[in-house]
Amino acid sequence: SIPVLVDCDTGIDDALALTYLACRPDVEIRGIVSTGGNVPTAAVQRNNLVLAELLALEAPVAAGADRPLVQEPMYAEDTHGPTGLGHAVLPEPSRTADPRAGARLWVDAAREHPGELVGLVLGPHTNLALALEIEPRLPQLLARLHIMGGALNHRGNTGPTSEWNIAVDPEAAQRVLAAFAAAPQLPVLGALEATEAVRFTDATLAELAGIARGSEHPLAQILVDALRWYFEFHEADGFGWMAHVHDPLVAAHAVTGAFARTCALPVDVELLGSLTRGQTVADELGRWGRPPTVQALRDVQAEAFIAHLLDTLREGLAHRG
Ligand code: BDR
Ligand code: CA
Repeated sequence: SIPVLVDCDTGIDDALALTYLACRPDVEIRGIVSTGGNVPTAAVQRNNLVLAELLALEAPVAAGADRPLVQEPMYAEDTHGPTGLGHAVLPEPSRTADPRAGARLWVDAAREHPGELVGLVLGPHTNLALALEIEPRLPQLLARLHIMGGALNHRGNTGPTSEWNIAVDPEAAQRVLAAFAAAPQLPVLGALEATEAVRFTDATLAELAGIARGSEHPLAQILVDALRWYFEFHEADGFGWMAHVHDPLVAAHAVTGAFARTCALPVDVELLGSLTRGQTVADELGRWGRPPTVQALRDVQAEAFIAHLLDTLREGLAHRG
Protein backbone atom coordinates (compact mmCIF):
# COMPACT_ATOMS: atom_id res chain seq x y z
CA SER A 1 0.00 0.00 0.00
CA ILE A 2 1.01 3.63 -0.45
CA PRO A 3 1.94 5.30 2.87
CA VAL A 4 0.90 8.96 2.97
CA LEU A 5 1.17 11.85 5.40
CA VAL A 6 -1.46 14.54 4.86
CA ASP A 7 -0.84 18.12 6.01
CA CYS A 8 -4.04 20.11 5.61
CA ASP A 9 -6.18 23.03 6.80
CA THR A 10 -9.53 21.19 6.82
CA GLY A 11 -11.44 22.86 5.11
CA ILE A 12 -14.23 21.56 2.88
CA ASP A 13 -12.12 20.27 0.00
CA ASP A 14 -9.44 19.00 2.44
CA ALA A 15 -12.17 16.88 4.09
CA LEU A 16 -13.09 15.44 0.69
CA ALA A 17 -9.43 14.67 -0.02
CA LEU A 18 -8.94 12.92 3.34
CA THR A 19 -12.12 10.91 2.86
CA TYR A 20 -11.07 9.94 -0.67
CA LEU A 21 -7.66 8.72 0.58
CA ALA A 22 -9.24 6.80 3.47
CA CYS A 23 -11.67 5.14 1.04
CA ARG A 24 -8.85 3.76 -1.11
CA PRO A 25 -7.81 0.26 -0.09
CA ASP A 26 -4.31 0.78 -1.52
CA VAL A 27 -3.54 3.88 0.60
CA GLU A 28 -2.39 3.90 4.20
CA ILE A 29 -2.69 7.24 5.98
CA ARG A 30 0.34 7.33 8.32
CA GLY A 31 -0.32 10.72 9.83
CA ILE A 32 -2.38 13.91 9.64
CA VAL A 33 -0.91 17.33 10.41
CA SER A 34 -3.35 20.16 11.15
CA THR A 35 -2.16 23.48 9.76
CA GLY A 36 -3.93 26.76 10.39
CA GLY A 37 -5.34 28.29 7.22
CA ASN A 38 -8.99 28.09 6.26
CA VAL A 39 -9.73 28.23 10.02
CA PRO A 40 -7.38 28.48 13.03
CA THR A 41 -5.16 25.50 13.88
CA ALA A 42 -7.34 24.38 16.83
CA ALA A 43 -10.46 24.26 14.62
CA VAL A 44 -8.57 22.38 11.88
CA GLN A 45 -7.32 19.90 14.47
CA ARG A 46 -10.84 19.34 15.77
CA ASN A 47 -12.10 18.68 12.23
CA ASN A 48 -9.24 16.28 11.54
CA LEU A 49 -9.82 14.39 14.79
CA VAL A 50 -13.51 13.96 13.97
CA LEU A 51 -12.73 12.85 10.41
CA ALA A 52 -10.07 10.39 11.59
CA GLU A 53 -12.54 8.94 14.05
CA LEU A 54 -15.40 8.64 11.54
CA LEU A 55 -13.03 7.08 9.00
CA ALA A 56 -11.67 4.67 11.62
CA LEU A 57 -8.10 5.81 10.93
CA GLU A 58 -5.41 4.72 13.36
CA ALA A 59 -3.01 7.42 12.21
CA PRO A 60 -1.72 10.06 14.62
CA VAL A 61 -3.34 13.49 14.22
CA ALA A 62 -0.97 16.27 15.31
CA ALA A 63 -1.63 20.00 15.56
CA GLY A 64 0.82 22.36 13.93
CA ALA A 65 1.95 25.89 14.69
CA ASP A 66 -0.76 28.42 15.45
CA ARG A 67 0.69 31.10 13.17
CA PRO A 68 2.62 31.48 9.91
CA LEU A 69 6.43 31.90 9.99
CA VAL A 70 6.50 35.66 9.48
CA GLN A 71 3.18 37.33 8.73
CA GLU A 72 0.00 37.52 10.81
CA PRO A 73 -2.50 34.66 10.45
CA MET A 74 -5.49 35.02 8.12
CA TYR A 75 -8.52 32.77 7.88
CA ALA A 76 -11.23 32.06 5.30
CA GLU A 77 -14.39 31.47 7.30
CA ASP A 78 -16.40 33.07 4.48
CA THR A 79 -15.17 30.34 2.12
CA HIS A 80 -15.30 27.33 4.46
CA GLY A 81 -17.75 28.32 7.21
CA PRO A 82 -17.21 29.15 10.90
CA THR A 83 -15.94 25.65 11.78
CA GLY A 84 -14.19 25.03 8.44
CA LEU A 85 -16.79 22.51 7.33
CA GLY A 86 -19.59 24.74 6.06
CA HIS A 87 -23.07 23.82 7.26
CA ALA A 88 -22.02 20.42 8.62
CA VAL A 89 -22.76 19.75 12.28
CA LEU A 90 -19.92 17.69 13.68
CA PRO A 91 -20.01 15.34 16.64
CA GLU A 92 -17.60 16.04 19.51
CA PRO A 93 -14.31 14.23 18.85
CA SER A 94 -13.52 11.45 21.28
CA ARG A 95 -10.14 10.65 19.68
CA THR A 96 -7.21 12.29 21.38
CA ALA A 97 -4.60 14.34 19.60
CA ASP A 98 -1.08 13.10 19.08
CA PRO A 99 1.07 15.01 21.61
CA ARG A 100 3.75 15.82 19.04
CA ALA A 101 3.93 19.09 17.13
CA GLY A 102 2.91 18.80 13.48
CA ALA A 103 6.49 19.48 12.33
CA ARG A 104 7.78 16.67 14.55
CA LEU A 105 5.24 14.24 13.09
CA TRP A 106 6.52 15.05 9.57
CA VAL A 107 10.07 14.25 10.67
CA ASP A 108 9.23 11.09 12.64
CA ALA A 109 7.02 9.66 9.89
CA ALA A 110 9.65 10.33 7.21
CA ARG A 111 12.52 8.88 9.26
CA GLU A 112 10.54 5.78 10.18
CA HIS A 113 10.38 4.58 6.56
CA PRO A 114 13.10 6.37 4.58
CA GLY A 115 12.26 6.68 0.91
CA GLU A 116 8.68 5.37 1.27
CA LEU A 117 6.44 8.11 2.58
CA VAL A 118 4.42 10.23 0.14
CA GLY A 119 3.89 13.73 1.58
CA LEU A 120 0.81 15.75 0.73
CA VAL A 121 0.47 19.46 1.51
CA LEU A 122 -3.12 20.64 1.03
CA GLY A 123 -2.84 23.81 3.10
CA PRO A 124 -0.21 26.43 3.97
CA HIS A 125 3.40 25.20 4.17
CA THR A 126 4.16 26.37 7.72
CA ASN A 127 4.64 22.98 9.35
CA LEU A 128 6.63 21.43 6.54
CA ALA A 129 8.94 24.48 6.63
CA LEU A 130 9.35 24.01 10.40
CA ALA A 131 10.01 20.30 9.85
CA LEU A 132 12.81 21.19 7.41
CA GLU A 133 14.50 23.13 10.22
CA ILE A 134 14.53 19.96 12.34
CA GLU A 135 15.46 17.62 9.47
CA PRO A 136 16.97 19.31 6.38
CA ARG A 137 17.18 15.89 4.69
CA LEU A 138 13.38 15.55 4.43
CA PRO A 139 13.47 15.94 0.63
CA GLN A 140 15.73 12.88 0.51
CA LEU A 141 13.73 10.94 3.13
CA LEU A 142 10.32 11.27 1.45
CA ALA A 143 9.43 9.21 -1.61
CA ARG A 144 7.89 12.35 -3.09
CA LEU A 145 5.91 15.48 -2.22
CA HIS A 146 2.59 16.61 -3.70
CA ILE A 147 1.33 20.14 -3.13
CA MET A 148 -1.92 21.97 -3.74
CA GLY A 149 -0.84 25.55 -4.04
CA GLY A 150 -0.06 28.49 -6.23
CA ALA A 151 -1.37 29.90 -9.46
CA LEU A 152 1.13 29.62 -12.32
CA ASN A 153 0.77 32.62 -14.60
CA HIS A 154 -2.93 32.55 -13.77
CA ARG A 155 -5.01 34.89 -11.60
CA GLY A 156 -5.03 34.24 -7.87
CA ASN A 157 -7.97 33.42 -5.62
CA THR A 158 -6.73 35.40 -2.59
CA GLY A 159 -4.82 38.40 -3.93
CA PRO A 160 -5.07 39.26 -7.64
CA THR A 161 -2.06 36.99 -8.30
CA SER A 162 -1.81 34.87 -5.15
CA GLU A 163 -3.41 31.57 -4.21
CA TRP A 164 -4.61 30.89 -0.65
CA ASN A 165 -2.18 28.18 0.51
CA ILE A 166 0.82 30.26 -0.56
CA ALA A 167 -0.65 33.64 0.46
CA VAL A 168 -1.19 32.50 4.07
CA ASP A 169 2.53 31.76 4.55
CA PRO A 170 4.66 32.80 1.55
CA GLU A 171 7.99 32.42 3.41
CA ALA A 172 7.13 28.82 4.32
CA ALA A 173 6.15 27.98 0.72
CA GLN A 174 9.33 29.59 -0.60
CA ARG A 175 11.50 27.55 1.78
CA VAL A 176 9.71 24.31 0.99
CA LEU A 177 10.00 24.78 -2.79
CA ALA A 178 13.68 25.74 -2.48
CA ALA A 179 14.50 22.70 -0.33
CA PHE A 180 12.51 20.21 -2.41
CA ALA A 181 14.11 21.40 -5.65
CA ALA A 182 16.99 19.13 -4.54
CA ALA A 183 14.73 16.08 -4.00
CA PRO A 184 15.36 12.99 -6.15
CA GLN A 185 11.88 13.58 -7.63
CA LEU A 186 10.67 17.14 -8.08
CA PRO A 187 7.57 18.01 -6.04
CA VAL A 188 4.29 17.80 -7.94
CA LEU A 189 2.40 21.10 -7.81
CA GLY A 190 -1.34 21.28 -8.42
CA ALA A 191 -1.88 25.02 -8.82
CA LEU A 192 -5.13 26.86 -9.51
CA GLU A 193 -4.97 26.66 -13.31
CA ALA A 194 -5.10 22.86 -12.83
CA THR A 195 -7.34 22.44 -9.79
CA GLU A 196 -9.95 24.97 -10.96
CA ALA A 197 -10.69 22.61 -13.83
CA VAL A 198 -12.44 20.48 -11.20
CA ARG A 199 -15.83 22.17 -11.02
CA PHE A 200 -18.54 20.52 -9.00
CA THR A 201 -21.96 21.30 -10.45
CA ASP A 202 -25.47 20.90 -9.06
CA ALA A 203 -25.45 17.42 -10.62
CA THR A 204 -22.27 16.51 -8.69
CA LEU A 205 -23.85 17.73 -5.46
CA ALA A 206 -27.03 15.73 -6.21
CA GLU A 207 -24.97 12.61 -6.87
CA LEU A 208 -23.15 13.02 -3.57
CA ALA A 209 -26.48 13.54 -1.80
CA GLY A 210 -27.61 10.25 -3.38
CA ILE A 211 -24.51 8.54 -1.97
CA ALA A 212 -25.36 10.01 1.45
CA ARG A 213 -28.94 8.68 1.25
CA GLY A 214 -27.68 5.22 0.30
CA SER A 215 -25.03 5.09 3.03
CA GLU A 216 -25.26 4.60 6.76
CA HIS A 217 -21.98 6.42 7.06
CA PRO A 218 -22.44 9.83 8.77
CA LEU A 219 -19.54 11.33 6.82
CA ALA A 220 -21.42 11.28 3.51
CA GLN A 221 -24.04 13.75 4.81
CA ILE A 222 -21.35 15.82 6.53
CA LEU A 223 -19.62 16.25 3.15
CA VAL A 224 -22.88 17.25 1.44
CA ASP A 225 -23.65 19.84 4.15
CA ALA A 226 -20.10 21.16 3.96
CA LEU A 227 -20.18 21.40 0.15
CA ARG A 228 -23.46 23.33 0.16
CA TRP A 229 -21.62 26.15 1.94
CA TYR A 230 -18.81 25.97 -0.66
CA PHE A 231 -21.40 26.36 -3.46
CA GLU A 232 -23.00 29.33 -1.67
CA PHE A 233 -19.60 30.96 -1.27
CA HIS A 234 -18.73 30.51 -4.97
CA GLU A 235 -22.13 31.88 -5.97
CA ALA A 236 -21.66 34.94 -3.75
CA ASP A 237 -18.17 35.35 -5.27
CA GLY A 238 -19.68 35.59 -8.77
CA PHE A 239 -18.95 32.08 -10.08
CA GLY A 240 -22.57 30.86 -10.14
CA TRP A 241 -23.91 27.70 -8.46
CA MET A 242 -20.77 25.58 -8.58
CA ALA A 243 -17.61 24.94 -6.58
CA HIS A 244 -13.92 24.69 -7.44
CA VAL A 245 -12.78 21.59 -5.56
CA HIS A 246 -8.99 21.76 -5.32
CA ASP A 247 -7.42 19.34 -2.84
CA PRO A 248 -8.89 15.96 -3.92
CA LEU A 249 -7.34 16.23 -7.41
CA VAL A 250 -3.86 16.57 -5.92
CA ALA A 251 -4.55 13.65 -3.55
CA ALA A 252 -5.85 11.44 -6.36
CA HIS A 253 -2.99 12.27 -8.69
CA ALA A 254 -0.53 11.53 -5.87
CA VAL A 255 -1.78 7.97 -5.42
CA THR A 256 -2.84 7.08 -8.99
CA GLY A 257 -0.59 9.18 -11.24
CA ALA A 258 -3.75 9.70 -13.33
CA PHE A 259 -6.08 12.57 -14.32
CA ALA A 260 -3.38 15.06 -15.38
CA ARG A 261 0.00 15.21 -17.04
CA THR A 262 2.94 17.05 -15.54
CA CYS A 263 5.24 19.71 -16.89
CA ALA A 264 8.64 20.51 -15.33
CA LEU A 265 9.06 24.23 -14.58
CA PRO A 266 11.20 26.55 -12.46
CA VAL A 267 8.83 28.14 -9.92
CA ASP A 268 9.57 30.62 -7.15
CA VAL A 269 7.49 32.54 -4.63
CA GLU A 270 7.41 36.35 -4.69
CA LEU A 271 8.08 37.64 -1.17
CA LEU A 272 8.80 41.31 -1.82
CA GLY A 273 6.26 42.60 -4.36
CA SER A 274 4.09 45.37 -2.94
CA LEU A 275 1.28 44.18 -5.23
CA THR A 276 2.27 40.59 -5.85
CA ARG A 277 3.53 39.13 -2.54
CA GLY A 278 2.65 35.43 -2.44
CA GLN A 279 2.56 35.02 -6.23
CA THR A 280 4.07 31.81 -7.60
CA VAL A 281 6.12 32.87 -10.60
CA ALA A 282 6.72 30.17 -13.22
CA ASP A 283 9.50 30.65 -15.76
CA GLU A 284 7.74 29.06 -18.73
CA LEU A 285 10.30 30.21 -21.33
CA GLY A 286 13.46 29.55 -19.32
CA ARG A 287 14.42 33.25 -19.00
CA TRP A 288 16.05 32.65 -15.62
CA GLY A 289 18.26 29.89 -17.02
CA ARG A 290 17.52 27.83 -13.90
CA PRO A 291 16.60 24.14 -13.78
CA PRO A 292 12.99 23.17 -13.09
CA THR A 293 11.89 23.01 -9.44
CA VAL A 294 8.41 21.48 -9.72
CA GLN A 295 6.32 19.18 -11.88
CA ALA A 296 3.19 21.25 -12.49
CA LEU A 297 -0.13 19.52 -13.16
CA ARG A 298 -1.52 20.29 -16.63
CA ASP A 299 -4.39 19.13 -18.87
CA VAL A 300 -6.66 17.88 -16.11
CA GLN A 301 -9.21 15.24 -17.06
CA ALA A 302 -11.83 16.79 -14.83
CA GLU A 303 -14.88 14.72 -15.80
CA ALA A 304 -13.02 11.42 -15.44
CA PHE A 305 -11.60 12.58 -12.13
CA ILE A 306 -14.97 13.63 -10.66
CA ALA A 307 -16.49 10.29 -11.70
CA HIS A 308 -13.56 8.46 -10.07
CA LEU A 309 -13.87 10.54 -6.88
CA LEU A 310 -17.60 9.82 -6.54
CA ASP A 311 -17.13 6.10 -7.29
CA THR A 312 -14.38 5.88 -4.66
CA LEU A 313 -16.55 7.62 -2.04
CA ARG A 314 -19.60 5.49 -2.91
CA GLU A 315 -17.61 2.27 -2.56
CA GLY A 316 -15.55 3.31 0.43
CA LEU A 317 -18.31 4.86 2.49
CA ALA A 318 -20.57 1.87 1.86
CA HIS A 319 -17.87 -0.45 3.21
CA ARG A 320 -17.06 1.72 6.18
CA GLY A 321 -20.74 2.38 7.04
C1 BDR B 1 -6.79 26.03 -1.45
O1 BDR B 1 -7.21 26.95 -0.44
C2 BDR B 1 -8.05 26.32 0.47
O2 BDR B 1 -9.12 27.15 0.84
C3 BDR B 1 -8.50 25.04 -0.18
O3 BDR B 1 -8.72 24.06 0.82
C4 BDR B 1 -7.36 24.68 -1.08
O4 BDR B 1 -6.38 23.93 -0.41
C5 BDR B 1 -7.26 26.56 -2.80
O5 BDR B 1 -6.70 27.81 -3.05
CA1 CA C 1 -6.81 23.07 1.81
